[in-house]
Parts: sequence; structure tokens; C-alpha cells
Amino acid sequence: MSGKRSHGHTDDDLEALRRRAEELRREIAEHDRHYYLEDAPVISDAEYDRLLDELIAIETAHPELITPDSPTQRVGPPELVTEFRPVEHALPMLSLSKVTSESEFHDWIGRIRRQLGLPADAPLPCHFCCEPKFDGLSVELVYENGEFTLGSTRGNGLVGEDVTLNLRTIRSIPRRLERRGGHEPPRLLEVRGEVYMPIAAFRKLNRELEKAGERVFANPRNAAAGSLRQKDPRVTARRPLAFYAWGIGRWPDNPHPTHSATMRALARFGFPVYEDSCVSKDPKRVAAYHARLLERRASMPFEMDGTVAKVDEYAIQRELGQVARSPRWAIAWKFPPIQRETRLLDIGISVGRTGALTPFAILEPVEIAGAIVRRASLHNFDEIERKDIRIGDWVWVERAGDVIPYVVGPIVERRTGKERRFVPPTHCPVCGAPVDRAPGEATAYCTGASCPAQRVQRLVYFASRTGMDIEGLGEKLATQLVERGLVEDVGDLYFLRKEQLLELERMGEKSADNLLGAIERSKRQPLSRVLTALGIRHVGPTVARLLVRHFPSIDALAAASEEQLAAIPQIGPVVAHSVRTFFSSERNREVIEKLRRAGVQLEEATTHEGPRPFEGKTVVVTGRLERWTRSEIKEFLERLGAHVASSVSKRTDFVLAGEDPGSKLDRARELGRPVLDEQAFVAELRKLGIDPDPGVEPTGQA
Ligand code: IVH
Repeated sequence: MSGKRSHGHTDDDLEALRRRAEELRREIAEHDRHYYLEDAPVISDAEYDRLLDELIAIETAHPELITPDSPTQRVGPPELVTEFRPVEHALPMLSLSKVTSESEFHDWIGRIRRQLGLPADAPLPCHFCCEPKFDGLSVELVYENGEFTLGSTRGNGLVGEDVTLNLRTIRSIPRRLERRGGHEPPRLLEVRGEVYMPIAAFRKLNRELEKAGERVFANPRNAAAGSLRQKDPRVTARRPLAFYAWGIGRWPDNPHPTHSATMRALARFGFPVYEDSCVSKDPKRVAAYHARLLERRASMPFEMDGTVAKVDEYAIQRELGQVARSPRWAIAWKFPPIQRETRLLDIGISVGRTGALTPFAILEPVEIAGAIVRRASLHNFDEIERKDIRIGDWVWVERAGDVIPYVVGPIVERRTGKERRFVPPTHCPVCGAPVDRAPGEATAYCTGASCPAQRVQRLVYFASRTGMDIEGLGEKLATQLVERGLVEDVGDLYFLRKEQLLELERMGEKSADNLLGAIERSKRQPLSRVLTALGIRHVGPTVARLLVRHFPSIDALAAASEEQLAAIPQIGPVVAHSVRTFFSSERNREVIEKLRRAGVQLEEATTHEGPRPFEGKTVVVTGRLERWTRSEIKEFLERLGAHVASSVSKRTDFVLAGEDPGSKLDRARELGRPVLDEQAFVAELRKLGIDPDPGVEPTGQA
């Protein structure tokens, strides 16, 4: 709205725009944090794009309002993802399966019994150790010969980020292990636990931030995350962070046979360990512990979001093992989510990549557990009817942890009689094709074979971070590509030409080059990413990796029979059928052929070589670099597939410019070739999962 006014404004108008731009930048930065750091976006990509577009509109009309830290000024993802050195965990940091009710908890006990081969009434051979599920940030602390030497965040569980310096500022994390009883400290000990901000400290910090005119944190968890990821450890040092240990990584020759004994040992070494844990053989005692924690939730000095119950004996833990990324021997029994009431203003409908129509609630904005909620899922049309949700109703909305909020139900007492019943559409709101709903099926589908909404969503999914990770290809752009007939299926992406892109709205030289670069780079994504990106039903990243391990090329996978697929441990008949169905479609095979022609990697790389993301690229280096000598950078780039040229020409793909760059930089500008400074180049490498540090072989992403 404000962006449209470009002339005739007063100083007041300009001031209002400046404030709005500031507000937008803060909001965007916060969503970046949710998205990149917490992996828990609270708004859809479309909503994010709207914020960004509004900011771009203001800055385009008033370039004097652009600030160097504006998200519009950056090339890659926000710097916050690339600030810290990646650290691989020696043992993966797993996640916990969840239960939300007592009966689900008993089901878990039942699964343990079965796994251990025990009849339903036999006494359990193990104890359960119960403790709170701390709502903070998981970290791993490495101690060598008693010294704290390395601290990292959990990250994706396999690779986290080096935050050692910041962790050193947390007083409850010991710098050296205490020696009790004169024993030598272990040669190696990896302690895992949660960094959190006590609630009182969080409130005080927010009051201070507010007084200083700075942005406050939405909740203690965000505050802890934001404080731990400060570039400057002195800032972290001033933040009231604390730590609770909840487990270990490696501890060779750990003399303790149980989790609880190990935790007591950690306490003796000087780590804060939650004292009021409970160890019992009796599942009923676990349930009672959970009830007691829930009761005390509001009066606890820190936030927790459930109870964790773990099999105490390591020997039995080992026997139980793990499924996917969670151990079978532990469970998070979550507390019920926090609910709020608000008005349901309207019901919208989105069309997904499979054509599924999903109704969503448009709400009067309401704050729930730290986030402003404007939309909430309504799942499907039956649900609206079953819950008797009407437009105009007051409704209960809940947000469980980082899950998308949803409408629990109407508050019938607050009805005025003006509420309207919702009528499910008989035709797709986007393409107008009839809606199909199989009897007994909850989901209604758009039957339009060429429904643009489906195409758009398939593209967006293909390009998403879990898929081919094509930066810049969001819903906005995908919509334009589909509407203009430039892209029918994901294969067409690889044949886009720059001239075509330049005709799109808001597409300048630079963004077109960036996009083409991102599309080009995506060709080197591992096969499991390609499989995920294709959006085969039931095939997410985990299943895709499993499939690739057994069928290391797309041709091998396409040729596999349902029986062969189902023979893979952890792959059932449903997934097998779905994969088979996908590959038997002529249309899908055409798409795969297009990908092949484009040079997308359709086999698992088997060479010892690292990835060659710059294959076929011509790069020119100029000026002094911090990390590399001239010969090192040349070798490094060549190892990544680049041709390193000595002068800039129209064929130069990018120029890497260090300090005092000289005439090559001028030449690059003249010819409009992209220029990266060292920082941007390093950020790019990190994005590709490549360690930029000299002396280190470029290695691929996990
Ligand atoms: S034990 C599965 N105990 O919650 C690996 N985890 O949602 C063993 N967490 O990854 C985890 N409090 O980051 C454990 N008392 C506690 C915890 C806890 C918080 C975190 C941890 C874990 C995540 C799972």
C-alpha cells in the first residue's frame, strides 16, 4: 500500500515509511531466524514473500531509505547461517519420538516389550529414568583430558555449528572438569544438554531490550537461540544463559552401566543436572511423574515442554536400538499445547502439489506461545463440518511447539447468529476443474490435469531446501513461470534462458543470474535430493536416502519391482507401491529424461572426489584473499571443477575479488559479470556444504 505513493509526500509520510521499513526488516529477520535457525517457520513462504515485497516496494520508491543491513541487500541466505564453522558430531544427535497421551505412552511400553520379546504381562527388565524435556537449544560439549575444547549446536543432528567461544561464556558450563576423589578426568567426554534462558532472566532481558528501544524476544527459547548465536561472544556473555546436561555422546570406557549413574557422574564433574528426576520400573510411576511436572509447569524457573522417559540401562538401550533418527529406548511425552481464542474471519482454500484442497482459517491475529498467528489449518472439509466451524465464529486456536497452528473448535456460547456455514467448493478455486472426492476419503482433489496451482506447488517443492535447494525459486516466481507457460514440469527449469527470465516481473540481470546459477548448481545435488524433490508420495528425505542406498541410480530404482523395493528393511508395501506407480507413469519418465538431458545427477557419486559444483564455470580471481594464496585458491577452485582464467571476458561466470582488486574488477563491472567478495564466496561454499578452510579437502554435504 505505502509503496505505491511515490510523489507528493510530506516529511511525515517519509518518516512513516522509514518506520514501516524498519519494522519489516525486523519482522523478516525474525522469520529468517525461525526458518534458518530453528527450522520452524511460523508463516508460509507466500506470507514471507509479501513482507519482502512490501519492503522492496518502499526501498525502490525511496532508495534513501535502504540500509546496508536490509535483507534486500544480501545475495545469499542471511549471514546468520554461515557465521559459524560446521562441526560434525562423532555420534549423531538423535531426536525423540513423541507421545501426547497416557495411552500412547503405554503403547510405547508395549513396543519395548515386543522388541525385547516379552509377553504382555511379564515384568519389565529395565528401569525408566524420567526428567523434564527442557525447551532450549541442544548442544554438545567436548572435553579432552578434562578441558572444554569444542562446543557445537545440534544442527541437523549430524552436523552442527561451532559455538565454543559463546558456550565458554555460560557460567554453568564447566571450563575444566572437577576432580572428585582424585581420579584422572576421562581422556574424552562428550556431554550433551540444553542451553536455556531461565524465565525470570528472560523477562528481565526483555524489559532491558525494550527500554533500550531494541526488539524483544518472543519466548525464552528464541532468546536462548539468539543469544548463543551472537557473532560477538561478549554479547552472549551478558545474556543470562544456563545449561542442563541430559546425556552424553562419546565417553570411552564409561564405567557407569546406566543413564542415571552417568548423570550423577556428570554432576560430580561439575555439570548442572536436573535433580528431581525419577528412576522406576513401573510405567505408572512415570505417568505420575509426568502429571506432577505438568502441574508444576507454570511455577518452574525454566520452560519445559514435556517429560522425557529413557530406558536407564545402557545394555537394554543397545538392544532396543533406533528407528530412523530416534532411539526406541526414549520417548518425549509432550505437554498439551497452549490454546487461545480469536475470531475466524474467513475460510480460504489452498491447492497443493498433489491437487489436494486444504481449507485454512483466516484469523484475527492472536499471539500464541510467542508467535503471532494469522492463519491456521483446518485440515479438510469434513473437519469443518464435524467441528461445526462457521465463518464469524469465535474459535479456539492452538499451537503445539513448532507445529503449524490449527483451529480446535468453535466457542458455541459466543455465537450471535450472524455466523455463516461454509460450503465446500465443487470446482477448483484456481483452475475451475471439478473437485473429486472418493467415497470415504477425507481429502478432496482438484481434477485439473494441468491445474496451474498444482504445477506451481510442485515447482516450489522441487526447489525447496529439502529438495534441490534452488534459492530464489519461491511461490511468486513459480507462479509467473507457470502462468507464462515457461515451465510445465520441473524438467523445464533446466532449459530456462536468461532472456525469458528477464521478462518476468521484478527480475533484473542480477536476480536472473543468481537464479540460473542456483538452478545450475542444483544439478549436482545428490540423487536422494532429486528423489525427494520429485515429490513421490511417501518419499521424504529419509526414505529417499534409504532407497538410494539400495538402488544407487535412478534407472536401477525405476527398474525395481515392488517386491524388490519392499524387501528393503524399513520400506513397506505402501512406499514400494507408490515408488512403482511413480515410475510406471509415462509422464514421469519424460520428466526424468528431461532431467537427464539437462545433466542433473541421477546416480550416486561413487568417486573419491568431492563435489564439483563449479564444473564448466570460468572464474577469475583478483586482489588479495585472506584465506588463500593465489596458487591455493586456483587449486581449490579447480578441484571444485572451475576453470580459472587470467582475464575477465563475457564468458567469465564470476569474479572473486579480494583486497585491492585492480583493473580486473573494473572490467568485470563493465561487462556486467557477477563479482563475489571473499565473504560472499565463503558463504556460497558453505551453502554448498563445502569447507572453505585451506588445507582441507573440499568435502560434500552429509
Ligand atoms: S534425551 C534422542 N533428554 O529434545 C536423544 N533430550 O526432541 C536423547 N531435549 O534432541 C535425547 N530435554 O535436544 C533428552 N531431558 C532431555 C531433553 C532432551 C530436551 C531435547 C534434545 C532432543 C530433543 C528431542
